[in-house]
Formats: sequence, C-alpha cells, structure tokens
Amino acid sequence: MDSSLLMLMPLLVLSSLIISCCGNFHRDFEITWGNGRARILNEGKLLTLSLDKASGSGFQSKHEYLFGKIDMQLKLVPGNSAGTVTAYYLSSKGSAWDEIDFEFLGNLSGDPYILHTNVFSHGKGNREQQFYLWFDPTADFHTYSILWNPQRIVFYADGTPIREFKNSEPIGVPFPKSQPMRIYSSLWNADDWATRGGLVKTDWSKAPFTASYRNFNAKTCVRSSRSSSCHGSSSSNDAWLSQELDNASQERLRWVQKNYMIYNYCTDTKRFPQGLPPECRSTS
Ligand SMILES: *[C@@H]1O[C@H](CO)[C@@H](O)[C@H](O)[C@H]1NC(C)=O
Ligand SMILES: *[C@@H]1O[C@H](CO)[C@@H](O)[C@H](O)[C@H]1NC(C)=O
Repeated sequence: MDSSLLMLMPLLVLSSLIISCCGNFHRDFEITWGNGRARILNEGKLLTLSLDKASGSGFQSKHEYLFGKIDMQLKLVPGNSAGTVTAYYLSSKGSAWDEIDFEFLGNLSGDPYILHTNVFSHGKGNREQQFYLWFDPTADFHTYSILWNPQRIVFYADGTPIREFKNSEPIGVPFPKSQPMRIYSSLWNADDWATRGGLVKTDWSKAPFTASYRNFNAKTCVRSSRSSSCHGSSSSNDAWLSQELDNASQERLRWVQKNYMIYNYCTDTKRFPQGLPPECRSTS
C-alpha cells in the first residue's frame, strides 16, 4: 500500500464502506426541488427529472461520501434539447468547497451534446474540459462514472476514461480529499450560455424536457458512526481506493482526448497569460 493511503488510514477508519448495488432511488436519494417534476418510478429503479418553462428539478444523495467509485446510467433529453443542461456532480459544502462535475449541454435535434467536466478544490475551479461523445446519449442509457480516490479523479463514459485529474499536491495544487461530498443532479434551463454559447434558445413548445436515471452502483466510504471501515472489506472490494489507469485504459484515454475533446483549459494559453496552471505543466 502506498504511503499516501497509509496517512489516510485514521480518517478512513472513521468511515464505513457501503456498496450500493442495483440501486434503489428511494433508499439512496431524495428529491430536493421541482414541485413534482422529479419522480422515482418502478419501485425505485428509475428516476426522471423534467423541465418546463416554470421550473426544472433535482435530487441529491442521502449519504455524503469521502471517496468512491460511482456509476450511474443516464439517458439525456432527446430531440431538441437546446438550452437545457443536465448536471450530475459531487459537491461538498461551504465557501471552500470541492466539486467533481459532469454537465451535459443539450442541442438541436441531430446536433451533438457537449459533455462538460470540471474539478473544484477548495472553492477554485477553472479546470474545464469538454467533449463530444462517440454515441448518441439520448437514444439509450449510458453509464457515467467517477472514480475518486486519494491519488486521482477519473471521469468515465461507458467504462472508457475521458479525463484524469491527478493529485498534484506535491506541486502545490489542492486536491479534494478531506471534505465529504454528496451526489447532486438537476435539469435546468441555461439558454443564456449552454448551446453554441447561448445563440440557440430553449424551444418551450417542446417542453416538458425529461432526463432519466437508473442502475446507481457505488463503492464508497461513507461518513457515519458505524464501526466498519473501507479497509474492513476484502481487497477486491476496496481495490478502487488505490486504482490507477492501466496501459489499456491510458490508451483509451488518449483516444478520447485526441478524437473527442473540444476544449481543454490546460492548452488555453490565451486564458492563462501568466502561465498555465501547475497541474497542466507537470508531465506526470
Ligand atoms: C451543438 O451543435 C453545434 C453545431 O454542430 C456545435 O457547434 C455545438 O458544439 C453543439 N453543442 C452545443 C452544446 O452547443
Ligand atoms: C505498460 O507500459 C509500460 C511502458 O510503456 C511498460 O513498461 C509496461 O510493461 C506496460 N505494462 C503492461 C501491463 O503492459
């Protein structure tokens, strides 16, 4: 086990391992807003969010997590979804919050969604990377995953890594590792910026817009008073806590970044005239 994990042991022993398989939305989530526009259906197996001119809707996890490997299947707003944003993210609270973001920016029928990602540590973000997808995210459910352990954050689509944010604390970059986060999701109107930079507005004659969720599956450490820990379980169960990208995964990551990445803050020299952020300059 590497030393950064050993240093975290006392922290992890305070928390407990929860494995949520074949998720039940009634058990793991609560609807937080939208006045009936968010619904849990099929005995907890399906959740839908909707958006109309009056309001969007949203939900959050009941638990807070400190590290996790979290999968969720989403089927995004089909047809003309221009102006809509489906946000799916992890976030802690307070003014120095941490956050790990997926945001799906809708588009006109047949035009590609943008998958927008960001990582905030201690209240500071500005680490956007954006992608097109190699599939139609509205035609069926696809799995979006976040691996968050003490060494790295990896974003995945259908098991393919699309982004890796490594722990660069040794070169002075804060990394989210001490504030527990909840899962949040919402569907809302952002036609002032979302589609082609705000040029294409939401067509309310197509409302309500609906996004669907299923198969929440998570291995996480949960903050609670229970006595078992992340390390109490078998090694195969907590392998995610030190998981890294093997060669094949790194190869996939390069494939996505070469063919589907449309924005990377790490190459935006105009935006950072004083020099790119340190994590971009490191070769690690
Ligand atoms: C929408 O489609 C246009 C035209 O293909 C494209 O430039 C844009 O990146 C797409 N996505 C969004 C969210 O604007
Ligand atoms: C991964 O790649 C490195 C260098 O490119 C190589 O030395 C190593 O053997 C590879 N590992 C596997 C499991 O293929």
